[in-house]
Formats: sequence, structure tokens, C-alpha cells
Amino acid sequence: MSVIQTISAKKLHPALGAEIRGIDLGRPVDAASFKAVNDAWMEHLVLVFPEQHISDEQHVAFTRYFGVPEIFHQDIIRSKRMKEIFRLANVDEDNNLMPAKHITLRQTGLAQMWHTDSSYRPLPCVGSLLHGLEISRTGGQTRFTNMYRVYEALPESLKKKVRGRKARHDFGNLHRLADIKPLTEAEKAAMPPVWQPMVRSHPVTGRISLYISPIYNDQVEGMDDAAAVTLIAELTEFAQQPGFVYSHQWEPNDIVMWDNRCTMHQVTPHDPMERRVMHRTTIEGVDPVTAA
Ligand code: SIN
Repeated sequence: MSVIQTISAKKLHPALGAEIRGIDLGRPVDAASFKAVNDAWMEHLVLVFPEQHISDEQHVAFTRYFGVPEIFHQDIIRSKRMKEIFRLANVDEDNNLMPAKHITLRQTGLAQMWHTDSSYRPLPCVGSLLHGLEISRTGGQTRFTNMYRVYEALPESLKKKVRGRKARHDFGNLHRLADIKPLTEAEKAAMPPVWQPMVRSHPVTGRISLYISPIYNDQVEGMDDAAAVTLIAELTEFAQQPGFVYSHQWEPNDIVMWDNRCTMHQVTPHDPMERRVMHRTTIEGVDPVTAA
């Protein structure tokens, strides 16, 4: 006798986030289950799938239902074992705890600042799926903010500043924020800065959101650099109000999936001596960002 499980979604925060049960991400997903998950994703923006004991291969296979997995362009973060896996870990693939000053940790440590993934690409990614393999108990929570709600609630004075404007998203900005060696000319040429609308519409839901990615934003159209940095800081401060933010306390084998087109996220600090191993896949972008 086959057991048919029903997919259920339980809201985690008034602004965003739902816990999804009744699906095994390690098995093939039928069309009805895919639709249920995708509909829940568009509604809740962030989905948490608890107790998913899956391999990297299964993680990548589940990601493929939503699009092509992005291959990260730097080998200091991309897994040596599986190119589709982006590692957020203080343990290397030979199982050694990395020193806090390790070049990879100096870069991935910037995930403690609010951002949305790969906004520096001409076609920024759709979403990301993060697997908690070894989770932190001293911090290491991942926080998400609902950028639809943020835009709706922005005071008119700030709406006026962002409407019709573009911000620059530059991967090289990471190297200015952290003490990492600057990009080489070849790296710069491979990932040149892009200008993205600060107010965008979502290609699926049609809803309007603020679109910024503070770790990559260094300039705003029509503003000098100091004014641009101040504006991005003001918008970030507004976006991180508790009413917009769901904070995820990880349990081992949670998979958390978020929509990068209408959310930002950050990770809270944790004890660098405590192992934390998270594997992420990222769904490649298909649409340019449409201004709203
Ligand atoms: C990320 O910024 O993609 C991951 C955040 C985390 O490590 O929880």
C-alpha cells in the first residue's frame, strides 16, 4: 500500500517564512508536489524543510526542479567535490577547522551583512537553498527580511529617493569591505559591476519590492558616493525592523529555501571555534531585473 503524504505549510512569522512538511526532498518530486511547494514559496518567500537527510547530489537534484544551479566563479568557496555547491563553512573539505583569519572566512563572514545573492550578475539568481549539515548553537541564525513589505512601508521621502533610480552592484565591493586581496583585472573583467533598479517588480507574483544588496552596493545613480552609502545604510536600517524579519534557528538537516528577488538575508555571528557547515545551491537567474 502506498502512503500519500499531504504537503503542509505552517507560517513561521507574520511577514514571511513557512515550515513545509510532507515531502522528502531526496526523492523525485511529482508535478502536484512541485506546484504545492512553488505556490507556498511565492506566498511565504522563505520555506523551511525540516529533517531532510539528503546528500549534495540530492540537494542539487531538488534545486534543478526550479532552474539551473549557478556555479560560483571563485574556487575558494565552490566545493571541490561538487561544483554546484557553494560552501558556507568554517571547516574545509578535508575536515579541518579553518583559522578565523582564513581568506575564505574573511569573505564568507561578510554574509553577516544584509544582502541578496548574486545581485552583481546581469541576471541575478532566482533563489537559494541552504542545507544545515553542522549547525551552530552559539549564533549562526539566518535572518530574512520581506522586501515587498519593506517597500510598502517605506516613508514617502525614501520612496522618492529610490523610485526610478538604479544602484550599482559590484562583486569587487566585498574586497573593499573585508581585508581580502583585490580582484585581479581578469576577475574584474569576468564580473563587471551592474546597475539594477532599486524598485523592482517580481517576474512571477508581479509584486513590487525594494531591491538593494548592501554588501555589493557602492553607488547610486545621481548621487555622490557618500550620499549613496548613507542612503543604502538608511534603507538597510529600515529593512531590518523586527516586523519584517524572520530569524531561523537551525536544526541539523534543515533545508531553507529563499527567493532572492524579494528578500534579503544575513547570518548572525557565532563562535569561530564551533564547527558550522552549510551547503548552498543557487538557482541561476533567467530574467533581468524589471523596474517598477
Ligand atoms: C548566505 O548568505 O547565503 C548564507 C547565510 C548563512 O550562512 O546562514
